[in-house]
Amino acid sequence: MASIRTSSGSAPSAARMQANDIVIAPSLLSCDFARIAQEVARVEEAGADWHHVDVMDGHFVPNLTIGPPVVAKIHGAARLPLDVHLMITDPDAFAEPFARAGADTLTFHAEVRRETRAQRETIAAFRSAGVPRVGIAVNPDTEIEAVADVLDEVDMVLVMSVFPGFGGQSFLPHVLDKVRWLRRRGYDGRIEMDGGLNPETLPLCAAAGADTLVAGSAVFGAPDMTQRIREFRAGARAARASS
Ligand code: DX5
Ligand code: ZN
Repeated sequence: MASIRTSSGSAPSAARMQANDIVIAPSLLSCDFARIAQEVARVEEAGADWHHVDVMDGHFVPNLTIGPPVVAKIHGAARLPLDVHLMITDPDAFAEPFARAGADTLTFHAEVRRETRAQRETIAAFRSAGVPRVGIAVNPDTEIEAVADVLDEVDMVLVMSVFPGFGGQSFLPHVLDKVRWLRRRGYDGRIEMDGGLNPETLPLCAAAGADTLVAGSAVFGAPDMTQRIREFRAGARAARASS
């Protein structure tokens, strides 16, 4: 679990800010769903770290994707961890099904759990379902302070850099301030960014302090997936080193 500094107002050291390895997590939303097992294998051979799995309920977001049975099939085909991003109105109800389906990280949106007490209930539901890592996400128009009270209870904060629902949208740079805010505050858990990441925008995320980088269209649309993931990792490390 992550921690935050409470003792002093000074900025965390660079070493502490950069403690987490860079994770490149291609979003399967952009894969060929008719060939999902082959796509999972292709991403793994190309050098990815995690699979990002987008779950949408047609209610929290205006799109529908996949549920626990398909996630379980992906888990059966995968060797890498599944990073399951729940864009759904009722995450508590699906804690156990997604835990059973093999989610390694399970992330819910703060917009459906506004109050600290409700956020804590969802975190507890995920943990009691046996999910190894819990994340909380904020949309581009949600203030980062919305998750401030639970920072020491989650493993990851997902800062959305597009409005969720669809792949292929443009990166919204104003959200980088949220990443900086988290690191200034001393948050040392994972910070994930998702939406519009490409060779130009991904280094900006890493420079701001993000370590877990999701990309759909820029990975699956690349002429050479291995080369694209290598470029992402090198770009993130270089941006981090010079920040
Ligand atoms: C958006 C999803 C993202 C999406 C990213 O709702 O949460 O994971 O697949 O796609 P790109 O990288 O194409 O913006
Ligand atoms: Zn996502």
